[in-house]
Amino acid sequence: MNRKTIVFYGGGNMASAIISKMVTSDWSGEDIHVIDRNTEKLERFSKQFGVQVHDKPGSWMAQIDSVVLAVKPQQLPDAIASAKEWMDEALIISIAAGVRIEDLRAMLGQNRICRAMPNTPMKIGKGVCGLYATAEADEDHLFIVKVFAACGDLIWCDKEEMLEGVTAVSGSGPAYVFRFIEALENAGIRYGFNEVQARRLAIATVLGSAELARQSDEPPAELRAKVTSKGGTTYEALKVMQERGFMEMMQDAMDACRRRSAELGEAFHENLESKKD
Ligand SMILES: NC(=O)c1ccc[n+]([C@@H]2O[C@H](COP(=O)([O-])OP(=O)(O)OC[C@H]3O[C@@H](n4cnc5c(N)ncnc54)[C@H](OP(=O)(O)O)[C@@H]3O)[C@@H](O)[C@H]2O)c1
Repeated sequence: MNRKTIVFYGGGNMASAIISKMVTSDWSGEDIHVIDRNTEKLERFSKQFGVQVHDKPGSWMAQIDSVVLAVKPQQLPDAIASAKEWMDEALIISIAAGVRIEDLRAMLGQNRICRAMPNTPMKIGKGVCGLYATAEADEDHLFIVKVFAACGDLIWCDKEEMLEGVTAVSGSGPAYVFRFIEALENAGIRYGFNEVQARRLAIATVLGSAELARQSDEPPAELRAKVTSKGGTTYEALKVMQERGFMEMMQDAMDACRRRSAELGEAFHENLESKKD
């Protein structure tokens, strides 16, 4: 692929996480631009990653191949309005949670758009990112993969609505896993380990099991069945989980997350429509 340029509009947490991984792959800092109104943040970007920094958009953007919209959803309309005239030819990648393609289209006046829903483990290159792109961006898939590849795994969605499922499973997923680690850690402390030991037991268990599941040819349900002999210790623990409705509870939690994601997208849409009147 020829050398391409990219600008991150918004130099916050997410831009920093993505750029920190890009510069470890085959991206050069010279080809990455960041726009942010906070001078201190810009200085940090420039020093840490050797990227080009700007305190506002401008005609220089007309030469850029792609723009990543990395501001908060409520900041998006102003950010787009301030740069729209220079983004006609660019591929637009939006990481703004819940903001739908139809609204991005309406704000941008163009259709070459990709939505990405990453999660926070991408900071260490172990994230997973859901992607959905319009037909107009069909030729851009390779480029999009190049942007996010060093962040972790990438999953393409067939339909835009599936991004809400990505939010429910993997976007908010790290928080569920942290909660699970807390539960293991608390039990370890109750059984006499100090906090450090209990945390090590908990984290190593989650990490090791996830890695085993990743490397194994067998599905997780099979791996679970293999370590659960009837009448044994694991069987007793899983019996309690089943009696307390663990799987139903997890499904309800993710349904609530997905519903909330749809509600936020709808609220953004209604707000945008109300401004048209
Ligand atoms: N955090 C997550 O786990 C996660 C996961 C997936 C997706 N996302 C999405 O990622 C996006 C970015 O989130 P974040 O946590 O990185 O946000 P953030 O840290 O607040 O970063 C946004 C940056 O953009 C700046 N900014 C906003 N409007 C601007 C403008 N018109 N001109 C110049 N600079 C401007 C902000 O400045 P000020 O601080 O001065 O406003 C801030 O420095 C959000 O849309 C979010 O939905 C987040």
